[in-house]
Amino acid sequence: NSVTKRDFIYVATGAMVVVGVGAFAWPFIDSMNPSASIRSLATVEIPLGGIEVGQRVTVMWRGRPVFVDRRTEAQIDAAVADDDADLIDPQSDADRVQNPEWLIVVGVCTHLGCIPLGQKDSDPRGNWGGWYCPCHGSQYDTSGRVRRGPAPKNLVVPPYELMDGEKVIIG
Ligand code: FES
Repeated sequence: NSVTKRDFIYVATGAMVVVGVGAFAWPFIDSMNPSASIRSLATVEIPLGGIEVGQRVTVMWRGRPVFVDRRTEAQIDAAVADDDADLIDPQSDADRVQNPEWLIVVGVCTHLGCIPLGQKDSDPRGNWGGWYCPCHGSQYDTSGRVRRGPAPKNLVVPPYELMDGEKVIIG
């Protein structure tokens, strides 16, 4: 039934990260028939064990991509060092993470909703090493903060719970 069935999704990063969700269908698979039950999908659970330092993976939560970024020391340092920079949407890195190693953000540009590039090593990541939106050129740093517009806001941090570095529950 819909409570016990688990769908397994391989995220498109080359990493074999398995995501189990407590729902019958999935927007990518069943995009012709998005149902209310999918839209209301409350949580997604992601095992973190297979994600290496420096690796970014994408999972779907409530029909939107979420970027899970296991940051390197250099990426963390760059984010913290820019806490006092002239930010478009001022926010400290510490206010955007529960554990500095794990940055988790909704992968939707805050300008007009495109999906920023940067999840793959070969992607352009912009001047601040985070993400680059191909639609109108917004750039985000390694904290997911917008550093060059037209995007007005930082990438959104979704509600989540980190479980001992073993897994994260988003939602
Ligand atoms: Fe990203 Fe416009 S949608 S810059």
